[in-house]
Amino acid sequence: MTAPANTAADVLVIFGITGDLARKMTFRSLYRLERRQLLQCPIIGVARREWSAAALRDHARRAVEDAGEMIDEDVFQRFAERLSMVSGDLGDPGTYDRLARAIEARHTPVFYLEIPPSLFGRVVEGLAGANLTGRARVVVEKPFGHDLASARALDAQLRKLLEERQILRIDHFLGKEPAMDILFLRFANSILEPLWNRDRVQCVQITMAEDFDVADRGSFYDPVGALRDVVQNHLLQLVGLFASEPSSTADADGLRDKRVEVFRAMPPADPRHYVRGQYDGYLAVPGVSPDSQTETYAALRLEIDNWRWSGVPIFIRAGKALPERATEIRVIFKLPPRVAFAPTCAPDPNELILRIDPDPGVDLVVQAKQPGAQATRTVDLSLIFSEELGEAPEPYERLLSDAMAGESSLFTREDSVEETWRIVQPLLDAPPPVEPYKPGSWGPAGADKLLAGHPRWRDPWLRPLSGSESHRRR
Ligand code: BG6
Repeated sequence: MTAPANTAADVLVIFGITGDLARKMTFRSLYRLERRQLLQCPIIGVARREWSAAALRDHARRAVEDAGEMIDEDVFQRFAERLSMVSGDLGDPGTYDRLARAIEARHTPVFYLEIPPSLFGRVVEGLAGANLTGRARVVVEKPFGHDLASARALDAQLRKLLEERQILRIDHFLGKEPAMDILFLRFANSILEPLWNRDRVQCVQITMAEDFDVADRGSFYDPVGALRDVVQNHLLQLVGLFASEPSSTADADGLRDKRVEVFRAMPPADPRHYVRGQYDGYLAVPGVSPDSQTETYAALRLEIDNWRWSGVPIFIRAGKALPERATEIRVIFKLPPRVAFAPTCAPDPNELILRIDPDPGVDLVVQAKQPGAQATRTVDLSLIFSEELGEAPEPYERLLSDAMAGESSLFTREDSVEETWRIVQPLLDAPPPVEPYKPGSWGPAGADKLLAGHPRWRDPWLRPLSGSESHRRR
């Protein structure tokens, strides 16, 4: 029997609790949920290492501290008491029997698989063999496949034993508060909607710039590259939020249906509008093949062929070793007609920037008259959300608490995973050669040519503003 999708979890079981993701993200997020009194159930770690509960708790404390959280002893004590461990090999049915005994009084487990996807099948079979999947939800981490065919194969493996509604696929960008802000800005304000279409928008630029390189992730990154690592998933999900129609229902599938409708309207990407770059020095990264052709930078043009967006190019660029860390969606509006009363005036287009990272916020770029001249200047009307609205939960905090509550709208459904692979598949099949670029530059020259006939790439909106400055001039 399956539990209703939104029954709260009464135990959280984390496979791979001794791993890197747990150390960097999970303990911190769970600790923060404890602080907000949003944790209600025990947490059991499963891993091969023979750790006692005490060793797990020490590890958790170090992980929370290393992630930069100030420990409140009362909160940590409550959190630590929830933690215990089941050790064993994931290929051994005995591990699942021991787990079954540890959770026998529980009815609605959430299993969080922080393990490589190649192990998902084995773990789900182990859980099913111990009769643990019936009322469970299973949370999985990307990558969901390497291309469209492998994504389908992975899903087929999971679907042998689980229903789609039991599977919660994490794309942590959907858990970012500023990603959710996109929908609220669009649909809780009536002034934006009339502008949000092909009549008013000339193009959209989405930038995800990272000012660090591949560092010690060479062996993970080299078979993957920028397109698979962040474009097929994170950035396309942002496109889904940016471009979707409003959902008319409050259920989880309402929002997910609208995102997938956007993807269905997107034709397969054209390799002629795809530029790949590799930063100088990448080949020396440990774990990277000496003749690697993997891209550490990707720039591409996509289209959404529907009534709202047809003809509006969506330009995306993402790269490592760029000058700044910044993720933003920049909507560039059409130019006004000639300013007849000021013939020399040539205004720039209006822009609306939705900044996802760092310092989430929104910036409306408008034209104002230059004092004493018959000309205009660009002025920003900007808002940093945290200054105005306070601190937001972290993505994993939100996603783990949603998983435990059975709220699935921020998890990616299989149809959207497959649609996004379909969109990028031609780029995987016929990739252009990689162009070199200097670390600390804005990527290869080819990326500028991609925009021929459209506004050049804008430098991301960067400087955090204090409240008093928020109506500043550029
Ligand atoms: C991950 C990618 O999914 O997202 C990383 O594997 C990338 O390469 C990271 O750096 C970016 O996430 P965030 O939240 O730090 O912008």
